[in-house]
Amino acid sequence: MGDIIDGKAVAATVTAEVARRVEGIVAQGVRPGLAVVVVGDHEPSRIYVRHKMRGCERVGIRSAVHALPASVTQEEVLAVVERLNADPEVHGILVQLPLPPGLGTRTILHAIDPHKDVDGFHPVNMGQVATGRPPLAPCTPKGVMRLLREYEVPIRGAHAVVVGRSRVVGRPMAALLLAADATVTICHRHTDDTAAHTARADILVVAVGVPELVRGSWVREGAVVIDVGISRSSSGRLVGDVCFAEVQPRARLITPVPGGVGPMTIAMLLENTCVLAERLRGLPPWPPLGSPA
Ligand code: GUN
Repeated sequence: MGDIIDGKAVAATVTAEVARRVEGIVAQGVRPGLAVVVVGDHEPSRIYVRHKMRGCERVGIRSAVHALPASVTQEEVLAVVERLNADPEVHGILVQLPLPPGLGTRTILHAIDPHKDVDGFHPVNMGQVATGRPPLAPCTPKGVMRLLREYEVPIRGAHAVVVGRSRVVGRPMAALLLAADATVTICHRHTDDTAAHTARADILVVAVGVPELVRGSWVREGAVVIDVGISRSSSGRLVGDVCFAEVQPRARLITPVPGGVGPMTIAMLLENTCVLAERLRGLPPWPPLGSPA
């Protein structure tokens, strides 16, 4: 029976580290600031944003939410982003995804100053992740890497299988695992026989948003299973992308839903805000865009 990875506990450790780091930055006369842009009434986004704000408050990061109606135009969103780019009190900018239809996600993410891109979704920062030595990585995959480190999961030479290829999780997750010397397989909706791939994983990361997609037979005995998904089942229960009851007996380690990856995403957002505040203050120097990290 696999042990449960306690994401809440690791997130608490990271949050305490961040709180000390914030104190250090404040001692130099700057309070780290995060601006969150959320568009429309997507209920899960509103909940995530509330959690993010609460996290900031807990560690002393100044935060502001810019809630815009679903009817907003792309130009209006771009104007908000431009204003935040120019605001010296804002070190990190996050545009909560998904955006309502009609708004160009790519255009809006590209408009964020890469030096303030706390999610790491700007192509310059995604490129840094792809080169293997990012100054800043997207929050969820970075949180997964921290969990693997805390639980001393060997990555070098391990076969890591990532299910899902999103900008938010799958792609950067695969890049970070590759940078840590794993052999990486990425599965997605067009993959033939995903279960045959996952069954060969030493480390399995699932981020597709399909409730309980991964069944017991998909998982190798002794695998480390990281479940990034969170959905509500028809009975109203929160469930992940992994069928926990079937997979836990086969796994060596497994994240629960909730209480696994979710708290880590918030903790890493707080950490990334500090990284940006320090870099924007020139401590340590942020490499010029395009230079090797
Ligand atoms: N939507 C779901 N996860 C995330 C995230 O990490 N960042 C942003 N901006 N939107 C999200």
